[in-house]
Amino acid sequence: MNHKLISASILSADLAHLGDEIKMAEDAGVDWIHVDVMDGAFVPTITMGPVIVEACRRSTELPIDVHLMVHEPIRHIRNFANAGATNLTIHIETCPNILADLAQIRSLGCKAGIVLNPATPIQTIYKTLADVDLVLVMSVQPGASGQSYLPGSDEKIINIRQRLDAIGSHAWLEVDGGINLENIRMISESGADVFVAATAVFRSPLGIKEAVKSLRFALK
Ligand code: DX5
Ligand code: ZN
Repeated sequence: MNHKLISASILSADLAHLGDEIKMAEDAGVDWIHVDVMDGAFVPTITMGPVIVEACRRSTELPIDVHLMVHEPIRHIRNFANAGATNLTIHIETCPNILADLAQIRSLGCKAGIVLNPATPIQTIYKTLADVDLVLVMSVQPGASGQSYLPGSDEKIINIRQRLDAIGSHAWLEVDGGINLENIRMISESGADVFVAATAVFRSPLGIKEAVKSLRFALK
C-alpha cells in the first residue's frame, strides 16, 4: 500500500487568487494539486484548460493531477503535458483505444491514469490495470464539486484494490467526490490511497490549514 495522499481540487478555490490558494494548500500539507478539466460536452459545465495548469505549475512544485472530463482527451494530452501536468487521467467512457492512449500519456513523460464514472461497471477497466500509474474512482457524478459521496463507491474501491494487489501493481487508487472529515477514514479502509477534496479543503469553515490537518488526522 502506498502512502495516503491528499489531492486538493482547485475547482472550489478562489480563482481570483489561485496562486495564493495553492500556496496555502501546499503550506497546509496537501500532496497534489487536482485540476478538473470539463468541456461542456462529456459533462455539462466548462471549467479550465492548459493555461490554468500552466498557472498552477508556476505556483507550486507539487505534482499536478489533471482529471480530463472531455471527449477525445487524446487530442489534448500533449498540450496538458507541455503545460506541466504530472498525472493525466482519462475516462474509460471517452476512449475506444484506451491502451494506446495510456501509452501515449506515458510517452509524453506523464503518469497515466484511468477513471470511471459511478454508473460504469468496473470490468470495463480491468484490461488497463497492468498499464496505469493511477486508477481514479468517481464517487459522485462528474461535473461539479460540493456533491455527496455515493455509498456504492466502496464496493468498487474494495474490488479494484484486490485486483491491483493481485497483479502486484503499485498504482495509486484515488477517489474523487464528496470526501469529507466524516467519510475519509472509511474510504481509506476500503483501500484507497489518494483522496481528492475540493470543498473539504477550500471551503471548509476551519480554513485551509486546519481543514487539511483534520483530514490527515482522520486518516490515521
Ligand atoms: C467532480 C470533480 C471533483 C470535484 C470534487 O466532477 O471531478 O474533483 O472537484 O469536489 P468535492 O470534493 O467538493 O466533492
Ligand atoms: Zn476531479
